[in-house]
Amino acid sequence: MKIAVIGTGYVGITTSASLGESGHRVVGVDIDQEKINQLSKGILPIYEPGVEPVIQELLAAGTLSFTTNIGEALQVSDIIFIAVGTPSLSNGEPNLQYVKDVALEIGKYIDSYKVIIDKSTVPVGTADLVKGLIVQEMRKRGVDIDFDVVSNPEFLQEGKALQDARKPDRIVVGCSSERAKETMQKLYENVNAPLFITTPRNAEMIKYASNAFLATKISFINEIARLCDQLAVDVTEVAKGMGLDKRIGPHFLQAGVGYGGSCFPKDVAGLCTMGNHAQVEMSILKDVQEINNRQPKWLVEQMVMQMGTLQGKSIALLGLAFKPQTDDIREAPSLKLIPLLLQAGATVTAYDPIVNTKVKDLYPEIHLAKDAYAAAKQADGILLCTEWKEFLELNWKLIRKEMKDNHLFDARNVLSIPEMEEAGFRYWGVGRKGSVQ
Ligand code: UDX
Repeated sequence: MKIAVIGTGYVGITTSASLGESGHRVVGVDIDQEKINQLSKGILPIYEPGVEPVIQELLAAGTLSFTTNIGEALQVSDIIFIAVGTPSLSNGEPNLQYVKDVALEIGKYIDSYKVIIDKSTVPVGTADLVKGLIVQEMRKRGVDIDFDVVSNPEFLQEGKALQDARKPDRIVVGCSSERAKETMQKLYENVNAPLFITTPRNAEMIKYASNAFLATKISFINEIARLCDQLAVDVTEVAKGMGLDKRIGPHFLQAGVGYGGSCFPKDVAGLCTMGNHAQVEMSILKDVQEINNRQPKWLVEQMVMQMGTLQGKSIALLGLAFKPQTDDIREAPSLKLIPLLLQAGATVTAYDPIVNTKVKDLYPEIHLAKDAYAAAKQADGILLCTEWKEFLELNWKLIRKEMKDNHLFDARNVLSIPEMEEAGFRYWGVGRKGSVQ
């Protein structure tokens, strides 16, 4: 099938790669000429494991191309994916400006039946909004061309987005015509996953409700972790024991420093504003946000308690990305921890395997180290903030030797307590006071 993917961010690029792999012809569109130049050479503006070689292969095979010319892309495509960003406005509502701009452009250039697919996370009712804008532009041109707007939300996790696109748990399709439904079935016929077909409004809600539910699981376990900390219970054991119940499941019960990234904070806030508009009190989600906002503050309070004070102390911060295998720092917990540590009087030396100057630009006071060993040199304490695999494989004994003091704060509960204690650390994990060794 011939497909245009509008927007070349994480979602757009990964969608283009996986559709290309499934045998479709794809043209990626963006308004940013520099990005398009780079993408045309196979150079990606993002770090996402495995995607670059696929893009390069498809470019070489001639089945993928990139352009800034949306009109041209529309002419050669039957299916148009809208995969532009919907960042939060200051009131928590998603900013739909880019989605609306794309809808207007489609209305200007549409020349034959197309299926227009909303891939971006958009509030309930956006498929209707997109439809209305396209019709409005067509009317200006004096044309009336048949088209469908479908909601097909993405559930890609950064760091393993390609894997998720190749083998999704489910594909949610919200459509309102038989013709669109058949097109969507054909589009995904090579992907081995259940296709859940429903209305566009239902599909839009499924995306928000799924992310809000996952965020709720995380805030729930973080609250339990704080209680475990007080009651000398190990939250990792509690999560394991809970997760064995099939109704609960083991996933997304990893206590830590709170959720970040481009989706959970934005989508929970988005659902709350949808509730406000509809005059439905979203009380659980307000608490989910509150717990998540409190978690980094609580963590720094624990550091002060363990170390006596942070004034004049040197802290090595390991990990800046919001999670491993990505260069994304949107809503990263590290960005909340750094100002708290600085305010408490600590000096911060950070290291991340991928993220570098982006964080230094935001907080010029911090120092950047070339690796974890350099970050920890002469440090009073280490704060592990992102569970990159390389941090699990460090020579911790060597690190300890190079430090001034021996505090280790594992904000992801990923290090082995006996090993860390053997290496000479005073280990602290999130809700791990009752750890059995
Ligand atoms: C998420 C959804 O998983 C994906 O389906 C959606 O479409 C986009 O948003 P992503 O933001 O890439 O994906 O990351 P995810 O792996 O879901 O993690 C989100 C945040 O929660 C991260 O900060 C992560 O560290 C945190 N997290 C996750 C926890 O703190 N504990 C957990 O148990 C799981």
